[in-house]
Amino acid sequence: MVASARTEPRGSMAMELTTGDPALTARLERGMDASEEWLRALAAEAQDPCVAEVAGHLFGPGGKRLRPLLALVGAEFGARAPVGAAPSTAVEAAALAELVHVASLYHDDVMDQARTRRGVPSVNARWGNTTAVLAGNWLLSKAAQLAAELGPETIRLQSKVTNRLIMGQIRELVGPSDDDDPLSHYFTVVAGKSAALIAMALQLGAVRTGAPEHVVQTLAEYGEHLGIAFQISDDILDITSTSEVSGKEQGKDLAIGVASLPVLLALADERPEAGELRTLLTAATAGPEGGGLPRAVALLHRCGALAEARTVMHARLLRARTAANGLPDGPATRVLHALCDFVARRDH
Ligand code: IPE
Ligand code: IPE
Ligand code: MG
Ligand code: MG
Repeated sequence: MVASARTEPRGSMAMELTTGDPALTARLERGMDASEEWLRALAAEAQDPCVAEVAGHLFGPGGKRLRPLLALVGAEFGARAPVGAAPSTAVEAAALAELVHVASLYHDDVMDQARTRRGVPSVNARWGNTTAVLAGNWLLSKAAQLAAELGPETIRLQSKVTNRLIMGQIRELVGPSDDDDPLSHYFTVVAGKSAALIAMALQLGAVRTGAPEHVVQTLAEYGEHLGIAFQISDDILDITSTSEVSGKEQGKDLAIGVASLPVLLALADERPEAGELRTLLTAATAGPEGGGLPRAVALLHRCGALAEARTVMHARLLRARTAANGLPDGPATRVLHALCDFVARRDH
């Protein structure tokens, strides 16, 4: 079994989001532990010991486990909702969501040439790009296998979402065409690469415990908005958060030219800072990795782009909350509102 090198206390997020409901906290934490065990066992059972090691690399170390948590919260909305412990159907949904997520991280770190993930060396940094791509594919194949075992509705949802996720990554790589508005392009990208899976986690949990169709659809709507807000907070944290806190390299988007929302906003109109920022971001040697990061960060603050990105994020969170207001009142819906508070607090 892979040794745990988690950087965040187990279940901290579940605890933070369910204050005042210890039974729900315990159920979600048990479900998250069970899904994590499930994933570790999956990797450990790989026929090849190298595959077992590489595939299990991120199932030990820290990570928020947001998607498993969402699957378990979604499962609270069904008629077969758990009472004592999370049912195995919900645990499998949680494991499936994390499986797709971790596969996307393996591929994303190759795309971003990232060296660090979840506070440990990324798979590509440790074993190289080819291994990282193949191991990511291995995880996706296991996700498809699990989804097929869970039934036609699950495989339909999982395959559609995986396709949206990959299309989001491809669109990001290709960038906007001359006719595209860069901001519209950004929202299409993040809806695909981040929000689709976040929405799927909620949907899967709900479907698997027999929630009514209108609840499943409302959860999907909530998840799409929350997912976009979450990605915006991630874009902001790329600029403002240290690697000790995020477990990733600070300023990676700036260093490799990923069009994050603060940068797009900063360059969208002719602000006094735009010229210098553009030079910093495009000049390979004088770029952020060459020592220009503090200056680029200062410019993004000064021109108001970070504050604007926060405003856009809060507007998305409001849309998520509005969707959540259409769900039955109760502890699970309160968790969804608490999650909006969590994302709002994460942006600095
Ligand atoms: C990282 O997701 C990728 C994004 C969609 C921004 P998380 O920030 O949830 O990563 P982990 O799971 O905690 O490592
Ligand atoms: C990637 O978004 C989302 C995925 C498909 C994994 P980011 O590139 O912003 O994610 P991080 O910042 O590397 O976690
Ligand atoms: Mg990345
Ligand atoms: Mg990021």
